[in-house]
Amino acid sequence: MRQQVAAIQDAMAREVKAAGTTVQLDELRRKYLGRKGMVARLFDELSRLEPDERRESGRLLNELKARCEEMISRRRAEIEREETRQALSRETIDVTMPGRRPPLGRKHPISRVFDELKEIFLRMGFEAVDGPEVELDYYNFEALNIPHNHPARDIQDTFYVTDEVLLRTHTSPVQIRTMEGRRPPIRVIVPGRAYRSDATDASHSPVFHQLEGLAVDRGVRFSDLRGTLALWAKEFFGPDTKVRFRPHYFPFTEPSAEVDVTCVMCGGHGCRLCKMTGWLEVMGAGMVHPRVLENVGYDPRELSGFAFGMGVDRLVMLKYGVSDIRLLLENDMRFLKSI
Ligand code: PHE
Repeated sequence: MRQQVAAIQDAMAREVKAAGTTVQLDELRRKYLGRKGMVARLFDELSRLEPDERRESGRLLNELKARCEEMISRRRAEIEREETRQALSRETIDVTMPGRRPPLGRKHPISRVFDELKEIFLRMGFEAVDGPEVELDYYNFEALNIPHNHPARDIQDTFYVTDEVLLRTHTSPVQIRTMEGRRPPIRVIVPGRAYRSDATDASHSPVFHQLEGLAVDRGVRFSDLRGTLALWAKEFFGPDTKVRFRPHYFPFTEPSAEVDVTCVMCGGHGCRLCKMTGWLEVMGAGMVHPRVLENVGYDPRELSGFAFGMGVDRLVMLKYGVSDIRLLLENDMRFLKSI
């Protein structure tokens, strides 16, 4: 019996030491100390021994049982300590690790060009104003001397909300709103969005951007318009840039012109971009029509003015070398990051 007890104790000591998890320990306890375990089986044998021997062996077995319990609980504590240590080291925060950088946004190229345009015109004494994008027919067409049968009024070109309400097709209605609201001298620019029911392609979008300009005072002349835009072109595109005025027609200006700048790509020699003309069209302009002045209660014999409206998306495309207007409006991060 004594030998058996020693052998079991040795075996158990070895196995307990080798156990790496509490689950394994539970198994060992079942194997040795369970109701049908090895120690229990030795207890069963006690009945077959002589009383003296039985007493002695019983004592040995009880000691064995106690020692086994102790080995298991000591090992269990060890394993639990180790598991806690590992859990803690898994969960520690390394405060010296570099943080994750949130992606940084930046200004959209259209906003950047608007900012630049504003800066140029504010230096010349203009003031930036705005007006509603959902506009009345009266301001968008009627007061601007655009007749009822004018093609721009067709639903092909204009998004109507009702018969009288529409999405402004240009920033020119703000000319009327500004003149109605104050007396000359007036020098304003209107950076803003406009809408036309165009078919979309590389150079047309139903949403686009304009910068309107308006100056009204006594004795404002065409040469003032010319000088203002000549200076603007040099500031915006560079000191060698020239402007050219071609006769044109707008119902709300007389005389009217389309304004070209020397080609930003070839400097005027002729290339693919300017279709070999050396010039790029960038805006419409002219002297405010006397009937428009009358519509806001100004006396055209006393006051005169000039106005212009430039296509801002086109300016962005020229400045940043973008060949498709849709790229400016689709907010594709890959494109926006690249320019
Ligand atoms: N509103 C005109 C357009 O959108 C541009 C323009 C503005 C022309 C002011 C003359 C004067 O085409």
